[in-house]
Amino acid sequence: MSGKPLRAGGSAARIAVIAGDGIGKEVTPESIKAIRAVIDSKNQSARRQIEFIEFDWGADKFLREGVTLPAGAVEMLANDFDAILFGALGDPRVPSNQHAADILLGLRFKLDLFVNARPVELFHDRLTPLRDRSTNDVRFMVFRENTEGLYVGVGGFFKKDTADEIAVQEDVNSRKGVERIIRHAFDYARSNRLKRVCMSDKSNAMTFAHDLWQRVFKQVRQEYPEIESRHLYIDTLAMEVVRDPRQFDVIVTCNLFGDIISDLGAQLAGGLGLAPSGNIHPGRTSLFEPVHGSAPNIAGKGIANPLGSILTAGMMLDFLGWKSESESLRNAVRSTLQENFVTPDLGGDKGTVEVGDWIAARVGSR
Ligand SMILES: NC(=O)c1ccc[n+]([C@@H]2O[C@H](COP(=O)([O-])OP(=O)(O)OC[C@H]3O[C@@H](n4cnc5c(N)ncnc54)[C@H](O)[C@@H]3O)[C@@H](O)[C@H]2O)c1
Repeated sequence: MSGKPLRAGGSAARIAVIAGDGIGKEVTPESIKAIRAVIDSKNQSARRQIEFIEFDWGADKFLREGVTLPAGAVEMLANDFDAILFGALGDPRVPSNQHAADILLGLRFKLDLFVNARPVELFHDRLTPLRDRSTNDVRFMVFRENTEGLYVGVGGFFKKDTADEIAVQEDVNSRKGVERIIRHAFDYARSNRLKRVCMSDKSNAMTFAHDLWQRVFKQVRQEYPEIESRHLYIDTLAMEVVRDPRQFDVIVTCNLFGDIISDLGAQLAGGLGLAPSGNIHPGRTSLFEPVHGSAPNIAGKGIANPLGSILTAGMMLDFLGWKSESESLRNAVRSTLQENFVTPDLGGDKGTVEVGDWIAARVGSR
């Protein structure tokens, strides 16, 4: 591998591409095409340099060679790349899903990608299942803690496979972990001139783990007096997000609750085919992926919606500091939805590549 890349904000970037399995291999090339098109559309002096290097990590390699995340991969990604563009992992031939756990959870934990950023934005009124809601009503950001909580895999069985079996799963919350995600939410609100941050937990029932969330939240919010901060229990938040999503600008919560509430949000904005996400550690190599999985039921048919992946590419460009390119991609996605040039999941009859070509043509020359 070559030397250290320019870091976020520079004019050149190196991107590791892990398309993965199933439709990950179909949508990721459309994102790369869109990024190349938007960069090419700028005049020569404003043009950024971007290099994509593809890695074939996924089910095929695992089945062929028994390798999931190769030795040294994490260090190589951290040292030599600015960001990772990821597709999806999951294959019916690997029922244990071991390769997906090793690669995706491995990268999230080992690169310490503690922010899971899941923007919820409705691009066209017809895409929300909520009655009488429009694009102005559904626009908020969910920050899910991404490295702790119930997902760390601490626990065990006692008397497994007997009638007296006990299963224990520990919920791990560190002060450092809770503080950095809450602070990130407030910093994001401040830098994007958003007025409201809502922290959600279940401190009435989870009286140790979420008592820590309560105390840290009360401490951190004092540093952001201009931002209206609020707490809702997660069950109340789920109801309120559906009843009136206009109440929310930024939501911050733990790993498990963030997983669930961000999927609820994705559905309010048009569903899985449109939802982007970032796994981020500010200032370090971060990983960007559409929310959807490998969709084996439609893989190989050429009908997967590439827009979630293209919006994900937009988030990645934003992370690199390339705001105008990112905005161009989002605007192109908005146009395709307005003109209903879409794949079957959104009621259209276009193919993955057709939509990708349309976006690339819309953002600039190909
Ligand atoms: N981050 C990831 O890589 C990730 C996330 C979720 C699931 N998975 C894996 O993906 C595999 C399938 O999981 P699943 O079926 O529960 O979830 P999925 O997201 O793959 O599919 C759920 C449903 O949504 C549809 N869908 C998803 N993305 C679409 C798109 N871009 N365009 C059109 N339709 C789309 C699928 O056809 C399917 O009907 C499993 O192996 C699972 O473990 C991986």
